Amino acid sequence: MMNTLLTRKLNIRYPILQAPMAGGPTTADLVASVSNAGGLGSLGAGYLPPEQIRTAIREIKQRTDRPFGVNLFVPESSIPPEDAIIDAMNHHLNTFRAELGIAPNPSIPKAAESFEEQVQVLLEEHVAVFSFTFGIPSREILQSMKQQGIFVIGTATTVHEAGALETAGVDAIVAQGSEAGGHRGTFLTSTADARVGTMALVPQMVDHVTVPVIASGGIMDGRGLVASLALGASAVQMGTAFLASVESGAHAVHKQKILSSREDSTEVTDAYSGKAARGILTDFMKAMRDYPGAVPAYPLQHALTRDIRQAAAKASNPAYMSLWAGQGLRLAREHAAADIVEQSVEQAMLLMKRLGHFGSEAGSGDSLCNGHRSIDAE
Ligand SMILES: Cc1cc2nc3c(=O)[nH]c(=O)nc-3n(C[C@H](O)[C@H](O)[C@H](O)COP(=O)(O)O)c2cc1C
Repeated sequence: MMNTLLTRKLNIRYPILQAPMAGGPTTADLVASVSNAGGLGSLGAGYLPPEQIRTAIREIKQRTDRPFGVNLFVPESSIPPEDAIIDAMNHHLNTFRAELGIAPNPSIPKAAESFEEQVQVLLEEHVAVFSFTFGIPSREILQSMKQQGIFVIGTATTVHEAGALETAGVDAIVAQGSEAGGHRGTFLTSTADARVGTMALVPQMVDHVTVPVIASGGIMDGRGLVASLALGASAVQMGTAFLASVESGAHAVHKQKILSSREDSTEVTDAYSGKAARGILTDFMKAMRDYPGAVPAYPLQHALTRDIRQAAAKASNPAYMSLWAGQGLRLAREHAAADIVEQSVEQAMLLMKRLGHFGSEAGSGDSLCNGHRSIDAE
């Protein structure tokens, strides 16, 4: 057992959250395996139409009776870009389409699903945990979640954002450091300003909010878990560590790239989606560095590049795929998800003993943590 305030609140055995990863990696098997192993599995449902979310939730519930989370993208109220900007980008993307042998100038697909309809499904299906990124949902939505007893987790990349989430009434906050794979959750500042590393971000956030903080970004094993707890976090959220797992639905090429890349293989780019995200450097990212115009903001650019990403995935051509991954990717393993949870916990327990701060008595680790964020090693 490894108790923290968050494990007690969520009724889970270990302070390990498997990161929600929209776009396919978080299969029902992955989510359920992590929850069954004592962590908290999470479905990345941001891109899914409402009925597919319902189906996925029911599939997970068939595989586990443990709590799990469902994650959505909060829509941003940005001004749509001018047609000339969209046309210029579409024209530029035709070069890549030609290389992939797909039609130029496709009609632009639906940019995003209805957030309200997605939320409605989560309420109807009584999920245990609702997490979100890219902003803060309306007061009405957060109140409906609370009324249903759903545990609400927001994502922050700065202390300022964490303060705004706490004021809005979330139950816990993911501190997303700049090492993290996938999209930056930044919503109150420019993404360039919000590249604070996990080691620096977590303790500063812990000192400024009273709700539990979940460390995220570059955490791959028991060492990252112990370090995060020492910084005052109540749990970790690990994404890249689970991307190459047996149950992950990530494309085989994506998995293989993760297993063969290095700590300096990733970069933050807005080329695929119009929003800053960390992934393994691809030819597409390199080519887009020289794009002279403006990249349409998320979700439009994401819709514009969809045919390219899909064609590349179909051809197993990594050059144009989005290969999201965090900086810890050299530590990723092709293991079963439950083994990743168990090995991380075992390593953490050993480490805590070795560090001398944790004996066999419950609560002996309190000296490592701030106030209410005490760890009980049992
Ligand atoms: C492939 C991929 C997809 C992701 N999708 C989401 C998502 O849908 N929602 C979300 O809140 N975070 C998402 N993230 C970010 C994770 O929640 C988390 O911040 C990140 O994985 C932590 O860094 P790590 O990958 O180094 O563990 C994604 C990350 C990856 C790698």
